[in-house]
Amino acid sequence: MRTKNLIIFGTRPEAIKMAPLVQEFKANAENFETKVCVTAQHREMLDQVLEFFEIIPDFDLNLMKPGQNLYDLTADIIVQLKEVLEEFQPDYVYVHGDTTTTMAGSIASFYSGAKVCHVEAGLRTFNKRSPFPEEVNRQVTGRIADVHFAPTSTSKENLLQENIAKESIVITGNTVIDALLGSVEKVNENPSQLIKELQKELGEQEVVLVTGHRRENHGAGFERICKALKQIAEQKPQVMIVYPVHLNPKVQEPVNRILGDIQNIKLIDPLAYQDFIWLMNRSKLIITDSGGVQEEAPSLGKPVLVMRDTTERPEAVEVGTVILVGTDTDKIINETLDLLNNESRFEEMSKLHNPYGDGEACKRIVTHIRNLEQ
Ligand code: UD1
Ligand code: UDP
Repeated sequence: MRTKNLIIFGTRPEAIKMAPLVQEFKANAENFETKVCVTAQHREMLDQVLEFFEIIPDFDLNLMKPGQNLYDLTADIIVQLKEVLEEFQPDYVYVHGDTTTTMAGSIASFYSGAKVCHVEAGLRTFNKRSPFPEEVNRQVTGRIADVHFAPTSTSKENLLQENIAKESIVITGNTVIDALLGSVEKVNENPSQLIKELQKELGEQEVVLVTGHRRENHGAGFERICKALKQIAEQKPQVMIVYPVHLNPKVQEPVNRILGDIQNIKLIDPLAYQDFIWLMNRSKLIITDSGGVQEEAPSLGKPVLVMRDTTERPEAVEVGTVILVGTDTDKIINETLDLLNNESRFEEMSKLHNPYGDGEACKRIVTHIRNLEQ
């Protein structure tokens, strides 16, 4: 009898980080029957990833609603997953990280009796409001999970502090690096039309790449961020700021209103993963509040200014790739200009580091589950 796996995800970053695990389990089909369920908490941004990794979900809950709220989304995920879990009756369910899909998916899976495996377990800020609601999503999922795949020794330590049994924690590295290393070649071999056009348009210009979406930055935070970007653009007319804008309406509105008409700020739609990797590589530095980008940047040697007050990813700060700048307008401007002007500081922050793994995380996960079943 093969072990039955259900892999659940719903947003862009979960899809990127779960895609190599789907591939690895499917490559071990003699031991595992593996099905994929997407909640589609995201739609377009999820579909971009599914297409690139050639994943066709077995179950698609198609839940995204424009401007959705946490109450309805959480309830819908739990209720809709009931049918999937009852139909497939998995032995193991895999959830990833800290989204609403993760938290609601782990609760539903716990109700079903399946063993819950948490991929990217143990990241913590220990601040319930930052990131909101992700910190609590992670902690809830950590309480429920039977197996914890921790990316680093720091994340393992966090779990041990919460009295999670040592035997249930495995350090694997982060699957984001599996995805990145597995994709870089494909990106270079076969650049998209969009990349070819961007390449031509940007020429030799220095590029600052920006992304942002965190809930705790919605409202005043985004106003301050946009004000900073506008002033950076004015003070550095030779630099091009490229900003793929997240589809959340709470992000779209201030960004388009404040930055929509500035000659050296290029607002574009969210990029397909492979195009985004290309753009990270093409950039001089990155300004972001993204979790995943903080993990990818050290492996690409790209300095990152993180527009948050806390991070559950201290490893990138410790190796010197990431600096926390919060959403203070002056701090964002000063740190950005300093990095653009100060060559030796820039060089220091651009060194390659791999604190998040070696690209073998998914192999370790599959091996661990196989061993549990023997
Ligand atoms: C979610 C996660 C966050 C993660 C982020 C990655 C939660 C609470 N938040 O935040 O942890 O870092 O995804 O991007 O789980 N939208 C679209 N199309 C898409 C995606 C989003 O139109 O493909 C719009 C919709 O109006 C949607 C809104 O964005 O209602 C918000 O999506 P949601 O998943 O609730 O929150 P994110 O801010 O994306
Ligand atoms: N990303 C992408 N296209 C974009 C912006 C980001 O494919 O236009 C990728 C990026 O490489 C990283 C992930 O999306 O792997 C990060 O997602 P996001 O910032 O939305 O979420 P977070 O990581 O903060 O949860």
